[in-house]
Amino acid sequence: MTDSQNIEWHYSKVTKEQRRDLNNHKSAIVWFTGLSGSGKSTISVELEKELHHLGVRTYRLDGDNIRHGLNKDLGFGPDGRKENIRRIGEVSKLMVEAGLIVLTAFISPYREDRNEVRKMMEHGEFIEVFVNASIKTCEARDPKGLYQKVRAGKMKGFTGVDAPYEAPVNPEIILNTDVESIEESVQKLMFYLKKKGYLI
Ligand code: PPS
Repeated sequence: MTDSQNIEWHYSKVTKEQRRDLNNHKSAIVWFTGLSGSGKSTISVELEKELHHLGVRTYRLDGDNIRHGLNKDLGFGPDGRKENIRRIGEVSKLMVEAGLIVLTAFISPYREDRNEVRKMMEHGEFIEVFVNASIKTCEARDPKGLYQKVRAGKMKGFTGVDAPYEAPVNPEIILNTDVESIEESVQKLMFYLKKKGYLI
């Protein structure tokens, strides 16, 4: 018997729906996925700013930040990345229960790991955003100088170079950041959230 078999679920007297009713919006995860340097963090920062100005309660979870704290024990091998995404999924789910729009910016390279998070959520609570930029563009941007390190042989297992990236098959939104500006991407996201009734 595992320890979790001796644990009972405790129900609150305030539901997710009641928490949402205090807000002027629904709660969901906006899940950004894409290569390093594709624009996940930049766009999620700008989207959060715009949502906040409209009075939307948000929280942003970002790979670099979370890997300094909650997930600092995890590496970049397949198992480390899987556990990274699993924990982020669980944390995001709690935040959705609390009534927030959660913006997550993780490479999340494995389709199966992202789909596991989708499965944890109710219909419409997981909005997958493929931040689509070619490796060539990402490498040219190289905001942290990581591609340069990889090419110099100082880093191994880097996504898109010598570790896989599995693009979403049917994401809710695709942002083509090779050609779209940050502002265009943010407006595309805002349009989607309004059209689908997330912002009431
Ligand atoms: S993952 O794949 O979802 O678990 O990665 P994530 O938690 O988003 O962290 C990605 C950031 O970590 C830095 N970094 C690496 N990225 C890819 N591959 C390897 N091996 C690696 N090592 C460190 C990198 O700065 C990533 O940040 P972004 O913002 O994506 O550029």
